[in-house]
Amino acid sequence: MTACPVLSVVVPTFNERDNIAPLIQRLQGILGDLHWEVVFVDDDSPDGTAGLVRELAARDARVRLVHRVGRRGLAGACIEGMLATTAPYVAVMDADLQHDARLLPEMLRTLQAEDLDLVVGSRHVAGGSLGTWSEDRQLASRVATRLSQLVLKADLKDPMSGFFMLRRELIDEVVRDLSGIGFKILLDIFISAKRPLRFKELPYTFGVRVAGSSKLDSMVATEYILMLLDKTVGRYIPTRFIPFAFIGGLGVFVHMGVLWVLFRGLGASFVAGQTAATLVAMTFNFFLNNFFTYRDRRLRGWGLLRGWLSFTLACSVGAVANVGIATYLFHATPAGGVWWVISAIAGIIVGAVWNYAVTAVYTWNQGSAAASAR
Ligand code: GDD
Ligand code: MN
Repeated sequence: MTACPVLSVVVPTFNERDNIAPLIQRLQGILGDLHWEVVFVDDDSPDGTAGLVRELAARDARVRLVHRVGRRGLAGACIEGMLATTAPYVAVMDADLQHDARLLPEMLRTLQAEDLDLVVGSRHVAGGSLGTWSEDRQLASRVATRLSQLVLKADLKDPMSGFFMLRRELIDEVVRDLSGIGFKILLDIFISAKRPLRFKELPYTFGVRVAGSSKLDSMVATEYILMLLDKTVGRYIPTRFIPFAFIGGLGVFVHMGVLWVLFRGLGASFVAGQTAATLVAMTFNFFLNNFFTYRDRRLRGWGLLRGWLSFTLACSVGAVANVGIATYLFHATPAGGVWWVISAIAGIIVGAVWNYAVTAVYTWNQGSAAASAR
């Protein structure tokens, strides 16, 4: 009988086909006869990364795969990878060879020898560097790092690092509190821990991507802000309610615009105006929420149509309450002035809370058993 590996290297992948074999080869060379494994967590990459990992695993039992279907996200993938292993030491690194695997043995030695929770591969301590980064990206990274210092209590020089190793106990300690949104899993771990973490930063130079392309896009910035929000206000309200409410706020403008045109401009009745405005705002909100709030569960193709239908259906009840309450208030208050605006907003608020709760469950399957089975 063989015991579980001492070290597990968790590697999130999305369209990294050409990097898999070189990475495994590197790990084999560097980790040698240490008892290790590598867990690739692939989000059903269209380029067939998962299939290739399976092929290579047939030749080397140290190669493992977590194949996620219908989900996306770097941080979430890392969390599932960490949970899929029983190794006492777990490293997280990118598949594209930008993280220097030669640092792994030193990370492990440090973690085993010293009283630490985790070891971070750092580009911002003496001896480390960003390598060949464009001015733009260096600036973006600096801004993000500054921002993180608002919520981070530790003196961590490279909180944006995606390359680190931790003790299994730390995973168990923080896993239930992780936000799991976006790219910054290390920062997530630091903010989620309820005590100061004992850590050490080891320098390395960020390499150049060999094959494939970066998944870093403008969404990563949005998700970063969401993660920070989640870590602050998110403690008191459901995570996704923040973007949902924000989009709802935009929807109010759409709603009011349509209502203004129909009711004030074209002389339609208030009921007709409020109903039409609710429908337009509902559709607007559905698409924006599908794009941002539920990015990781984004509905596509026919699912989009089904989602829009269920969103509209579920929201219809909210809309009836909305129009009902707004109309009641409109008639109960003095004619003229801004009472029509106040009536409309009261209707919207009742509708919004209802919409969030119901569509989370029925449109995007949030928190239902069906969601994980899909
Ligand atoms: N499973 C999964 N799902 N993996 C993903 C996803 C996803 O949605 N998005 C990206 N990945 C994988 C990539 O395949 C790659 O292995 C790794 O995550 C990093 O993605 P890149 O697209 O190469 O990111 P980067 O190089 O711009 O940024 C990396 O380096 C930064 C600096 O250290 C990331 O590690 C950042 O977190 C890090 O801040
Ligand atoms: Mn990369």
